[in-house]
Amino acid sequence: MSAKIIDGKQISADIREELKAEVAALKEKGIVPGLGVILVGEDPASRSYVSAKEKACENIGIYSDDNRLPAEASQEELLALVAKMNADPKINGILVQLPLPKHIDEAAVLLAIDPDKDVDGFHPMNVGKMMVGEEAFLPCTPHGVVQILLREGVETAGAHVVVVGRSNIVGKPVANMLSRKKAGANATVTLCHTGTKDLAHHTRQADIIIAASGWPNTITADMVKDGVVVIDVGVNRVEDASRERGYRLVGDVDFDAVKEKAALITPVPGGVGPMTITMLLFNTVDSAKRANGID
Ligand code: GUN
Repeated sequence: MSAKIIDGKQISADIREELKAEVAALKEKGIVPGLGVILVGEDPASRSYVSAKEKACENIGIYSDDNRLPAEASQEELLALVAKMNADPKINGILVQLPLPKHIDEAAVLLAIDPDKDVDGFHPMNVGKMMVGEEAFLPCTPHGVVQILLREGVETAGAHVVVVGRSNIVGKPVANMLSRKKAGANATVTLCHTGTKDLAHHTRQADIIIAASGWPNTITADMVKDGVVVIDVGVNRVEDASRERGYRLVGDVDFDAVKEKAALITPVPGGVGPMTITMLLFNTVDSAKRANGID
């Protein structure tokens, strides 16, 4: 069997069309959702993420306030900009691009963002609310994973999901979201990490694998059962002299071999990647609705 390849770009485009219609309806009420973006420094990957975010906002009609600070900017400067955005009624969502330069305390910056504008879902208030099942901004990449499973009609209720990786951005939140007692979740979740003994023992039992380890080939064909659903969150650069830029992007899964055993699999690029920005747009529109008392 060869897997159906999940088209993350198409799912993403479908959701963006839905959001575009919502933004147009909000504009008729005089409401324009606004996203404030802060990038500190010149990291090439971060710059390209941020430009893609700005373009995506423009495409669906979200106002975006883009701020670039030099790599040497002080924590005080960054906190002052966050405070300004917290107080700005045109801004419904604030995104501070991570990682931040080493001299800045990331946790202090995330804590300074108004939880009602925390469209990344990284503020401890939103993390806590998610954990206890209250309404909260859900972090974008794991929320994108859940949307892919929902829109591909993958049954998660009662399924055994094995998550590989325990980051705050992906592994821990996706494990939490999929174990909630609600539609599109209700799974039995195993969270594996670098301390796991015999990773393959766990992944072979999985109905759904979510790979978020940050290492190429973490999941190989001998580690999965036939018919598994594989969601690959990894984005890794591997040297490739045949490419003009000298590298190519791969996920955490040995895609070519695993797709021969899986029922469904996301590619890299073109799988989970496009969903992250889409769910950021979703949270920004949601925040604008909440700020104006619209359900
Ligand atoms: N860096 C990599 N992914 C993300 C993300 O989803 N949000 C922010 N703020 N920074 C990131």
